[in-house]
Amino acid sequence: MLTAPRETLLASMTLDEKIAQLLQLAAPFFKGSEHEGQITGPLAGLGISESTAAAAGSVLGASGAKESISIQKAYLEESRHGIPLLIMADIIHGYKTIFPVPIAIGCSWDTVLAEESAAIAALEAAVSGIHVTFAPMADLVRDPRWGRVMESTGEDPYLNSVFARAFVRGFQGKNLTEDLSKIASCVKHFAAYGAAEGGRDYNTVNMSERELRELYLPAYKAALEEGAEMVMTSFNVVDGVPATGNKWLMRKLLREEWQFNGILISDWGAVKEQIPHGTAEDEKEAAKKAIEAGVDIEMMTACYPGYLKELIEEGSVNEGLVDEAVLRILDLKEKLGLFDNPYRAADEEKEQEIVFSKQHRDTARILAEKSCVLLKNEGVLPLQKEQKIAVIGPFADNGDILGPWSWHGSKEDAVTVLAGLQKKNLPEILTAQGSHIETGSEEMLKEAEKAAEQADVIVLALGEASEMSGEAGSRASIQLPPVQLQLVQRMKAMKKPIAAVLFNGRPLDLHGVIEHCDAVLEAWFPGSEGGDAITNLLLGEANPSGKLSMSFPYSAGQIPVYYNNYNTGRPKDAPDAQERYVSQYLDIPNEPLFPFGFGLSYTAFDCSHASLSSEILSPQGELTVSAQVTNTGEYAGEEVVQLYVQDLSGEVVRPLKELKAFQKIELAPGETKEVSFTLSEKDLRYYHSDLSFKSDAGKFHAFIGGSSRDLAPLSFELLHMKEEDMK
Ligand code: BGC
Repeated sequence: MLTAPRETLLASMTLDEKIAQLLQLAAPFFKGSEHEGQITGPLAGLGISESTAAAAGSVLGASGAKESISIQKAYLEESRHGIPLLIMADIIHGYKTIFPVPIAIGCSWDTVLAEESAAIAALEAAVSGIHVTFAPMADLVRDPRWGRVMESTGEDPYLNSVFARAFVRGFQGKNLTEDLSKIASCVKHFAAYGAAEGGRDYNTVNMSERELRELYLPAYKAALEEGAEMVMTSFNVVDGVPATGNKWLMRKLLREEWQFNGILISDWGAVKEQIPHGTAEDEKEAAKKAIEAGVDIEMMTACYPGYLKELIEEGSVNEGLVDEAVLRILDLKEKLGLFDNPYRAADEEKEQEIVFSKQHRDTARILAEKSCVLLKNEGVLPLQKEQKIAVIGPFADNGDILGPWSWHGSKEDAVTVLAGLQKKNLPEILTAQGSHIETGSEEMLKEAEKAAEQADVIVLALGEASEMSGEAGSRASIQLPPVQLQLVQRMKAMKKPIAAVLFNGRPLDLHGVIEHCDAVLEAWFPGSEGGDAITNLLLGEANPSGKLSMSFPYSAGQIPVYYNNYNTGRPKDAPDAQERYVSQYLDIPNEPLFPFGFGLSYTAFDCSHASLSSEILSPQGELTVSAQVTNTGEYAGEEVVQLYVQDLSGEVVRPLKELKAFQKIELAPGETKEVSFTLSEKDLRYYHSDLSFKSDAGKFHAFIGGSSRDLAPLSFELLHMKEEDMK
C-alpha cells in the first residue's frame, strides 16, 4: 500500500517526474532489459533521451519473468519515490498457449470457454511479469479487407458485447488486488477503428453519431461495465477529429457520460500522428490536444515529455490535467499491489511450470474445435479411418497457424494438420506441399498429384500467411493467392473427394475453392493445438459447431456486407419488385456467400414449433419466444439457437434482423430440447434521430433458428407506452 495518501505523493513529485509517469516506452529503453539500448528501427526515430526514458512510468512488451523483474529492479533503484513501473503487453489470444484468433473465438459462440481462454492467458502473462493486457479489442467489423478483423469477434454489436465482457472477466477476475493470477484489461480501440474506409488500415472513419452509438460503441461500453481498467484510443478520426485528440469522444462521452475514470492510453504513436492527420501543427500542439482530450499515457512518442512542461509553464495547459492523469496511473499501480510487491506474480520457476502446460493446451484445443466452421460438406466428412488420406497444401505441415498477435507463442510448438493426423492410428498418410502460400512451381504441383493419386481422399490445407492479416494487413483482393487456386484446380482434376481446411484471418472470397471442394472447413488461425483440433473434426471425433460471427462475402465487390442491413425502398425480393429498378447488382447476388450465424454440423438439427407466448407485448410485460430443436442426424452435436428481431416501422430505418440472444445447446441423436428466450420492451430500444434511446410501439418480427438466413417471422406488436414506462 501507499504509505501516504496518493495526493501527498503527487505533491512531492516535480513536474518532470509527473510528466514522465505519462510516458510509455518499449522494453529496450529500460535498464535491465534483455535488449537494453537496442533502439533500432522505428524506435530510433523517436528522439527520446536516456534520462527521459529512464523515468517513464510504464513499459510495453517485456518478455518473461526474468526480464520483467530485472527491468523493475533497475528502475526502482533509480526512482526517487519508489513508484513501480506498470508492465503492459498485447496478450490478445493467449500468452504462450495460443488460442484461436478472436474472430474464430467469436464463431464458437461459447462465452464460457472464451472467458477461460482469457483467464489462462492472464495467468501465463501474470507469472511472466505482465500487469496489463491491451485487450479485448472490441471493434465491430464489417470489412474483411481490413486485416484486423481477426482481432475482433465480428460484425454484431450484441455478440461482440457478450464476448468483450467474457474476456474482461477472464483477464481481471473479481479482485485484481488479491488475485495475482489476474491482469488488468485495456479495451481498445476507442472508437470505431473497425470502420476504416475501404478496409485500409488507419484510414478515415465516417459515420453518424447515431450509427456510432448503435453499432460501434456497445461492445466497448460492455467491457467497461464489466470493469475493464483501461481504454486505448484508436488511430482513426471520429467525425473528423483523430480519436487521440477528440475531446467530444473522450471527455464528453467516455469520461462524462460513461463515467469512466480509469487510464486512457493512446495507441502506439497516435499522439504524434495528429500531425500527419493535419489537426496539429507540431508535437507541442499534439501534446496539448491529447492531454486536453483526456489521454493519460502517451505510447511510444515523446510529445508529452517534450512539451507538456513548456505548455504548463506558459499557461496554455492546466497542470491539473497532468495531476489527474498521474493520479489515475498511481491508482492502478496501487490496485495491482505494485507498491507492496513491484514484481507481483512474476516468478521464473512458476513460469516454467505454468506456461504452455498440458491443461492449458487442452483448453486451446477444445476452443479450436468449437471455433472451426463447417461451410460445406457433401458427403466427404467425417473421413473414414480406413481411407488413405493425402494431406496436401501449403498448410499441410505448416506451424504458421497461430495468427497475428501471438508474440510469445512459438510456431515450432504448434501442432500442424499433418502432425495431428499422424498421432492417430491411420493406415497411411501421404503428403505434399503442392505450393507455397504465394508462390509455387510445376514440380510442386506434380508432387501433389503423385500423393493424391495414391489416396482415397484429399485434405487440402490452404490459406493466408499470418502476416497477410493483422495490423497493416489490409488486402484489396480477398481470394486465396492464385497459386493456391491453381493447386485446387489440379487436385480437382484428380477426381478424388476433397476436403479443404482453410487457415486465414479474415472472411475470404471463396470462389475457386468452394465450387471445387466437396467439403470446406474454416479453421481460421486455430492456435497452438490447431492440428489436433482439426484432426478430431476431420475424423468425426469432434463435431463442428462453429457459426460465423462475420459474413463471408460473395465477392469483394459486395463489401461491406453484413446480416443486419437495412431494407431499401426498392428491395429485390418484394412481391411487386420490378425486374431492373431494384436494389441489386447486375452480376452477383445481394446475399453474402455465407451469412452471419451460419455453420454446418455432421448431424442435422430441425428447429420447429417456433412460437410466441403472445402476439402482444405490453411495455412492462414480457414475451417468450420458443422453439423445439431436434437432432435428426446420427451424431451428437451442438447447435447455436439464435433469436433475432425486426422493427417493422421505426422512426429511422431498422435492420432486417438484429441478434438479441442465443443459446448453445447439446443434443444426442434423436433428442429434442425446447429453447426459449424472453423479450421485453427494453430489448426493442434503439437510437432515434434525436439520439434518444427508446422503442416505438408497433409491429415487430421475431425469428428463431440456427442461422441469420432463411428464418420464418413470428409477428407481435408492442403497445404504446407512457412516459413513466420509459425508465
Ligand atoms: C496496435 C495496438 C497495440 C499497440 C501496442 C498498436 O500498433 O494498434 O492494438 O495494442 O500497438 O502493441
